[in-house]
Amino acid sequence: MPLPKRTMAEPYKIKVVEPLRMTTRDYREEKIREAGYNTFLLRSEDVYIDLLTDSGTSAMSDNQWAGMMLGDEAYAGSRNFYNLERAVREIYGFRYVVPTHQGRAAEHITSQLRIRPGQYVPMNMYFTTTREHVERAGGIFYDCIIDEAHDPANPHPFKGNVDLAKLDRLLAQVGREGIAYLSIAPCVNMAGGQPFSMANLREVAGWATRHRIPIIFDATRAVENAYFIQQREPGYKDKPVREILREMMSYGEGCTMSSKKDNLVNIGGFIATDNEEFFTRAKEMVVVFEGLHTYGGLAGRDMEAIARGIYEMVDDAYIASRVRQVEYLGDRLLEAGIPIVVPIGGHAVFVDARRFLPHIPQEEFPAQALAAALYVDSGVRAMERGIVSAGRDPKTGDHRRPKLELVRLTIPRRVYTNLHMDVVAESCIALYEERDKIRGLRMVYEPKELRFFQARFEPIVP
Ligand code: F0G
Repeated sequence: MPLPKRTMAEPYKIKVVEPLRMTTRDYREEKIREAGYNTFLLRSEDVYIDLLTDSGTSAMSDNQWAGMMLGDEAYAGSRNFYNLERAVREIYGFRYVVPTHQGRAAEHITSQLRIRPGQYVPMNMYFTTTREHVERAGGIFYDCIIDEAHDPANPHPFKGNVDLAKLDRLLAQVGREGIAYLSIAPCVNMAGGQPFSMANLREVAGWATRHRIPIIFDATRAVENAYFIQQREPGYKDKPVREILREMMSYGEGCTMSSKKDNLVNIGGFIATDNEEFFTRAKEMVVVFEGLHTYGGLAGRDMEAIARGIYEMVDDAYIASRVRQVEYLGDRLLEAGIPIVVPIGGHAVFVDARRFLPHIPQEEFPAQALAAALYVDSGVRAMERGIVSAGRDPKTGDHRRPKLELVRLTIPRRVYTNLHMDVVAESCIALYEERDKIRGLRMVYEPKELRFFQARFEPIVP
């Protein structure tokens, strides 16, 4: 759909509001100290504008809330499950659906069922929980994203693309039996919310078919990727995102899904597939970890909200306004000369902490320090996506040192206005002007798994 040049307002109006609390700088200094300089450990009531994540933070529509009242809370065979199943079939195109309480539960079951110890799982860059579950199942993560994705300043329009030469190299090394499946993520989170192109996906699918290796998508942000294809890829500008999404998914055998993003709900996820045997085994396993296969850890009302969110997410006006708000914030930072990942991604603006704070070495956690400083400056909460998130190499025990050392300003769906985005931009600009004053951090507590969630830090005092 070609977009109009004139201002495009949100395609909805506000019916319910939730007050925000503003605090003083002294108060926030105390709170970030108490939180060990980790924004995950702040209380939400101490946050003014919460850009920690777009996960589970969406505003639901009146239609979704109405659906919540129609929850059929039966243990087995809830009508809301069948509504969810129908929505997934119609919009994603997969026949079989197993609900789970959120995305990582779908990843857990998929990894346990589809990986034999020692097998590789190529992914277009890692995601924290996805890689963790691959490794727990004895699998080995293999990064097959194009090199451009690791360079925050490279303006490649499809930085989520897979590098087929990397797939060939792995195949030559370990053979077909050595690869469990390809885990392909649309709008790659850790690369900065970067899409793949349909042309690339088609090539990957050809490769996968030739070598009889299945593609299992991490479909978490697939609609945002479909929107970028519509806007950037020749041949798609007149296609609705709904059709583009359907084509994308047709190249995979199935997907794991965190409904907390694209699906516009606060909780939920699912596995969807056309592979009957995988479906049967996933149903057997979901009852052990989540609940019966017709609720998978969700209330009936939650499944109804997901079913309705799935139809809403493919509305062209909605998805355009969602991604355009992210661009709005990104453009304001670019105009001020602040280093961010380009092109601007689908769900977040990623500030490049390496270039923002060149005086802080990566071992002193520049992105973590910048996220803490942003909170102190304005009460805006962001998230570190750099060396802390990357964790340690399971073999050597050393820090993994990702090229990308980023602070993620993640925009919840349908929640904030562009004036909130202005407040965020002004705070980033104020910090950038005084960036020399920001100091590095020392880690004083390090959890063994997914350390970024609970790690604690102290400022390094010169
Ligand atoms: N895959 C991707 C690409 C994700 O971004 C997430 C979650 C998951 C899987 C796991 O889903 O949270 O429902 O268990 N990302 C959140 C974030 C946590 O803030 O980026 P989940």
